[in-house]
Amino acid sequence: MPRKIIKVKDIKRNERIRFDMGDLKELAASIEKYGIIHPPVVDQDYNLIAGGRRLAAMDEVLGWEEVEVDVREDVDELTRRELELEENVQRKDLTWQEQVEAQKAIHDLKQEIYGPAVKGHESDGWGIKDTAELSDRSVGSVATDIKLAEAMEEHPELAEEKNKFHALKKLRQMEEEAILEELARRNEGPSSDRVELIHGDAVEELQKRKDATVELVIADPPWGIGIDTSSQLAKNYGVEYEDASTEALSLIEATCNELYRVMADGSHLFLFFGITNYYRTLQILEDAGFEVDPIPVIWDKGSGGAPAKGLAMPSAHETIFHTWKGRRYLNHGKDNVFRDIPRTSHTERVHTAQKPVELIKQMIELASDPGDTVLDPFGGSGTTAIAAALAGRKGIAIEKSDVNFGKMQEYVNTTLLAEGVVE
Ligand SMILES: C[S@@+](CC[C@H](N)C(=O)[O-])C[C@H]1O[C@@H](n2cnc3c(N)ncnc32)[C@H](O)[C@@H]1O
Repeated sequence: MPRKIIKVKDIKRNERIRFDMGDLKELAASIEKYGIIHPPVVDQDYNLIAGGRRLAAMDEVLGWEEVEVDVREDVDELTRRELELEENVQRKDLTWQEQVEAQKAIHDLKQEIYGPAVKGHESDGWGIKDTAELSDRSVGSVATDIKLAEAMEEHPELAEEKNKFHALKKLRQMEEEAILEELARRNEGPSSDRVELIHGDAVEELQKRKDATVELVIADPPWGIGIDTSSQLAKNYGVEYEDASTEALSLIEATCNELYRVMADGSHLFLFFGITNYYRTLQILEDAGFEVDPIPVIWDKGSGGAPAKGLAMPSAHETIFHTWKGRRYLNHGKDNVFRDIPRTSHTERVHTAQKPVELIKQMIELASDPGDTVLDPFGGSGTTAIAAALAGRKGIAIEKSDVNFGKMQEYVNTTLLAEGVVE
């Protein structure tokens, strides 16, 4: 990149990104004392690409008429915007609104250049993960910023909040209100006899059910591993349920007792559980009457998901008890690891503990027949209901939380519509 001295008045500054110059005096003093270490960058026509703040310090504070610049030749429009944004997103003096907007702008621009990544597939396209790597940030924080920037376009009042934390809180309230309004408007579940979504408590709803009317159960209860429901992370992702160990294990126990009654003779249950509760959960299942394989089934999620550096290794798998009532052989031979099924991407997820439809569908196809009833007492996002409907079974999902139930209705409806299962 050739370096040149040119006149300040010849440099064309671009106003595409609002640029609050902030306090330039300190920067100007440093440039005066040490010289300019990274000169501003211009293109062949002297359009400023990067270094707006440094240029302003030399021009407006030091009053220099000539400055040293790096000239980048053959810069096309997309590359110029890319350089400009990358420069701006690194600035330390951005307001929170500018920061989330710049993060979204850079993500959109990269997708314009490389095309969007295809969900759940390896592709050449650009995804949130790529933007996160580029900005040296976590996928979760970049996804949150982009979501917030999108929401600010539709609801400019969000940008009036004093910081990002308050804006996210308000966004969450708005989403919850919208869901509850939508619920009140519809007052009914999806229009399909393939799924039944029940808003209520698992144990109470199971008590209303007749004996031996379910051919397969997939259950993913609160694990009782003490997820802090008051944490910001939990709030952002809608962890609504009580996850203390004692309460969760009592709930699992009461639910398993009812499940054993409603399950047909010759039916299977897959129960996701927290490994720290291995013995207690095994005991609960055996006490309820189930025959239990003591070696847990593993779902290999492909990646950990926790921060890159840390003391402990991020967990890239989940454990599941496979249990049964009476004799019913599995439909095909299968070892006890479900491999190569990635977790649902952040952008697609509507529930923090959402399982991939593909995983549940494989369980359903392994341990039930078309036309069977598959029940999930802790429905969450409705994954089991969706997977059951896609596999030609009837799916029943029970969910207690108002907010999660609203999201489940929405998610099940839209997915089944998109898949052509309902019209
Ligand atoms: C671990 S999540 C299930 C996620 C689900 N497997 C999915 O793929 O989306 C547990 C769910 O159980 C719900 N829940 C907690 N207590 C419940 C209860 N007593 N009855 C019914 N649902 C309950 C929670 O609100 C939460 O959505």
